[in-house]
Amino acid sequence: MKVIIPVAGFGTRLRPHTLHNPKVLLNVGGKPMIHYIIEQLIKDKIASSIILVTGFLGDKIKEYLDSSFKFKFDYVEQAEAKGLGHAVYCAKSVFKNKNDETLIILGDTLFDVDLKKMVKGKDSVIGVKVVDDPRRFGVVEKDGNGYITRFVEKPASKEVSPSNEAIVGLYYLKNSLHLFKSLEHIMKNNITVKGEFQLTDALEHMLNNDDKMKTFNVEGWLDCGKPETLLETNRYLLSKNKKPGSYKFKNTKIVEPVFIGKNVNIENSVIGPYATINDDCVIKNSFITDSILDKFSTVENCSLTDSLIGEGAIVKRDALKISVGNYSEI
Ligand code: UTP
Repeated sequence: MKVIIPVAGFGTRLRPHTLHNPKVLLNVGGKPMIHYIIEQLIKDKIASSIILVTGFLGDKIKEYLDSSFKFKFDYVEQAEAKGLGHAVYCAKSVFKNKNDETLIILGDTLFDVDLKKMVKGKDSVIGVKVVDDPRRFGVVEKDGNGYITRFVEKPASKEVSPSNEAIVGLYYLKNSLHLFKSLEHIMKNNITVKGEFQLTDALEHMLNNDDKMKTFNVEGWLDCGKPETLLETNRYLLSKNKKPGSYKFKNTKIVEPVFIGKNVNIENSVIGPYATINDDCVIKNSFITDSILDKFSTVENCSLTDSLIGEGAIVKRDALKISVGNYSEI
């Protein structure tokens, strides 16, 4: 099975952090988000090929993955970010017009899910999660046998929504030839939403051409696309991977769960809960909770919460909730 991971977007909702670093390399819970996805794929041994669809800052992603994993990745370029559907289409060359099963995983979303179980059945499956309010999501409509009949984007109200099962960004498709044909169809006919080719429009075309798809329940759906969801995912990962640390710093209290990287200097501070402090940071006289500090950043005399501090940034002014880009100084 071939796994396609689109990572070519600009990550505009996470600026300034994504101006010089691709979104999927942002650190959450101690590792770049893409690391968790690749780690699970390699551990589960379900992929014959892992295809990264790269674009903006793609070289940095390639450099990171090739130096971190002993795996031969396939890279294809999406020269212009024309939407998720278009990004997936860019992977077509790796399939060489042969049918192969494919799993599509969004690069900025982590899943706490049994992938082996998900790809085991005889049907294509779309990952979904039951949500309280379907209005912010794409949802599925199903028939009495559990087969998907329609995809509905952002239903106007709970009442008109065909279900409360939201599409999470994990797609296992048995027939890649049908997938690419449907993507070709939407591109040829210029079927776009806000100027982008959507994957769901191609999936809808597949349904209309008798492809069968079921749903697979994904409980752990961890979005990393916005500051607040990145921090939420940080909290989840730190709680889950919690090993009581043996951290010892001068006159400092550590409130687990936290992640503290190498060569970090902390004095007179309270760190945690839910703080990710990456390598080579300096923290003095500060309180830090629910925040991510990228490497080489300095925080002094601050009380930080719900904050993202970029690589090499210096914060020496008391602030409660901030988002500071790389090498900025406050
Ligand atoms: P998103 O729309 O969430 O990511 O796409 P984005 O475009 O990078 O973020 P914003 O909206 O500007 O903040 C989900 C995944 O699909 C990839 C993204 O890189 C992300 O991993 N993607 C999206 C592409 O590879 N190409 C595209 O044209 C669009």
